[in-house]
Amino acid sequence: MKMKKVFMGAAVAALGLFTASCSDNGGKLNQDKPLIFFNRQPSDPTTGAIDMDTMNFSDQTYYVGFDAAGGGAVQGKLITDYLATKTKAEIDKNGDGYIGYCLFIGDIGHNDSKARTEGIRKALGTWKDSTDPSNKQEGKVTVKDGELKVKELDAKEMKSDAGATWDATTATTSTGTWFSQYGDQIDLLVSNNDGMAMGALKSSSFVDGTPIFGYDANLDALEAVKAGTLTGTVSQNVDAQAIGTLQLIRNMLDGVTGADVVKKGITEKDQYGNQVTAEMQYKSDTKALLALNSGINKDNVDNYLNTRDSGIKQINGEEKKVLLTLYNSSDNFLSSSYKPALEYYAKLLNIKLTIVEGDGQSESTCLDKFTNLDQYDAYAVNMVKTNSGQDYLRKLKA
Ligand code: BGC
Repeated sequence: MKMKKVFMGAAVAALGLFTASCSDNGGKLNQDKPLIFFNRQPSDPTTGAIDMDTMNFSDQTYYVGFDAAGGGAVQGKLITDYLATKTKAEIDKNGDGYIGYCLFIGDIGHNDSKARTEGIRKALGTWKDSTDPSNKQEGKVTVKDGELKVKELDAKEMKSDAGATWDATTATTSTGTWFSQYGDQIDLLVSNNDGMAMGALKSSSFVDGTPIFGYDANLDALEAVKAGTLTGTVSQNVDAQAIGTLQLIRNMLDGVTGADVVKKGITEKDQYGNQVTAEMQYKSDTKALLALNSGINKDNVDNYLNTRDSGIKQINGEEKKVLLTLYNSSDNFLSSSYKPALEYYAKLLNIKLTIVEGDGQSESTCLDKFTNLDQYDAYAVNMVKTNSGQDYLRKLKA
């Protein structure tokens, strides 16, 4: 009798263990389910090297983002193309022979931010082999009636006192500081993203008419370009990225394998007839599917105001559940551009998204909500720190 009780207890415990470690989704272990990192590429915050240990977690692990290095060059060219249309007298406000500019850096440890700092400095000639805020040299650019020297007057990571990066409010404050410090030496402002550029425009010290460039093509920034207050921005094609993130998940959950995972719905139609309209590139060495960038100014801004992709239509595949993290609920790009795009395309791809959001400062604010993993068919992760990949993997293996 006693023996029987012990045996039954063990059997129940074993059963409990089984339900705890296996999903109700075809009995798959969480570690064997699709996992997409997006927007914040697993990488070393100092060197920028891609964290391949994380990326090689499983054959269902991918990164979806955009061509960060290419984007930096696009932003740089947007700026130099603009400067080439201005005469010395028009651009060099105090006539000191220099274009003086200040640079809003988003996050010194984030690949996207580093790439933009590099692209901007290379275009303006101020690049000195480093994305460090204080490491730069004097540059030179072509303007309409000759050449002007370029001086980066200041560059600063826009980090709030609480530790949030890409911080628009910090950009507003810095604009005030910079204009009072450098006055009419400032001929140009350049920002690693639109949120900070819009923050700069909000400063009461901002001198109207100062050319200012952002990055992201958020709706408020596009409207500002149209209105002429923001000089230019860059689209990193958020629609293509949101589609890519969800499409790879859909493909894997539909049983697509091998190279087809990054092709179906991307470079060729999927089984439902869907295919993203924009060109995307797959880099097999880093398992990264990337959207391309394009420069936006007042001449072409209208083409970017309504960009939902008609190549993606409602599918009738079985509904799937996906847990998705966003590193910072108040990041302007993620909340005003990426999240609405995800919600829009998830419906079409019959994906039920559960979105959990962090505070942009400590990983635990996201990790603590990366729970009840058995209930989901797949995961999409946007980390607070780009080197936190292993923390998420540990939870998937638990
Ligand atoms: C965007 C930034 C955003 C960051 C968040 C970047 O690609 O350009 O605006 O703050 O992603 O990770």
